[in-house]
Amino acid sequence: MGKIILTGDRPTGKLHLGHYVGSLKRRVELQNSGEFEKIFIMIADAQALTDNADNPEKIRQNIIEVALDYLSAGLDPEKVTIFIQSQVPELCELAFYYMNLVTVQRLQRNPTVKQEIQLRGFSENDDDQNKKGTPVGFFTYPISQASDITAFRATTVPVGVDQAPMIEQTREIVHKFNAVYGETLVTPEMLLPENAACLRLPGTDGKAKMSKSLGNCIYLSDTSKEIKKKVNSMYTDPEHLQITDPGHVEGNVVFTYLDAFSTPEHFAKFLPEYADLDEMKDHYRRGGLGDGTCKKFLFNIMEDFLQPMRERRKQYEQNIPQVYEILRKGSEAARAEAAKTLADVRKAMKIDYFDDAELIAEHTKKYQG
Ligand code: TRP
Repeated sequence: MGKIILTGDRPTGKLHLGHYVGSLKRRVELQNSGEFEKIFIMIADAQALTDNADNPEKIRQNIIEVALDYLSAGLDPEKVTIFIQSQVPELCELAFYYMNLVTVQRLQRNPTVKQEIQLRGFSENDDDQNKKGTPVGFFTYPISQASDITAFRATTVPVGVDQAPMIEQTREIVHKFNAVYGETLVTPEMLLPENAACLRLPGTDGKAKMSKSLGNCIYLSDTSKEIKKKVNSMYTDPEHLQITDPGHVEGNVVFTYLDAFSTPEHFAKFLPEYADLDEMKDHYRRGGLGDGTCKKFLFNIMEDFLQPMRERRKQYEQNIPQVYEILRKGSEAARAEAAKTLADVRKAMKIDYFDDAELIAEHTKKYQG
């Protein structure tokens, strides 16, 4: 059997550079590698609603943003199935059955859930009257994520390292299901990003993470002018005051981004004085290399991959009904695929009453004496 990919994103905002290096770029490479029989890319609106139940408009507006980001990054609807989670109701059904195989205690131990509950200020026990309680849907989203992955018999889940506990929990659910009901589900593997700098791209201000609320993101949909402004205001080395001063590259956002993006080809094209990033870093450390030159180089590199994306985006923006059609067709195809797994699951769980001729025969015999 061929390898199958499933991955996705919550549609809570436009995608930024962190998403690009961490996942989108890789997805496009995987799509073009020819190694995968099927690739499913899911816009996880149902998961996004688990902590945005009172803000459906936000999710509704961001589905198209994420879809445009996907398409402009180079995901090709001829090669991958892009779909919307809520349009595949089989996923809810599957999650409901998996809930019987996971304990509350095991969910409470999931480090990602724990961290996210704290991050959102949900209370963790009954006596904390000042905080909002944790929605059950949010608490159980690792189970829903297990159904997303297994419904498509995914072998491979390309995600960031923060998702590791989710994949681990999915694997446990698969083992448990197969042990209780017989070999039915496929055990997935996670696929981490290759470049260490991609694991977590910091914000332009040097804060650990890009976040909309901190205003330190570079969006894939930013204009050239916006990018220039953001790169020029990037946090560098506060001790590097004069060009001749020795500088630090650690904690210097410009160099962290160069770690993530620059290739020797970029040097040949835009900054031929250096063969590669190591040489450039050495010069910066010694002193004599100004922040302006580094920023200009970074800007050129970013424009080099963002410009083609902008052009694709413009085309799709001129044809929004076509984008919705891609999502509709993708969702239909995804639903057909999930339905096959659900048929196997119902059979394994002995709840396929009407398709089970033996059941009727058995009971006919039993009651006829
Ligand atoms: N949890 C992922 C995120 O926060 C989105 C997601 C939902 C997902 N279901 C998934 C990712 C299944 C990989 C596999 O963006």
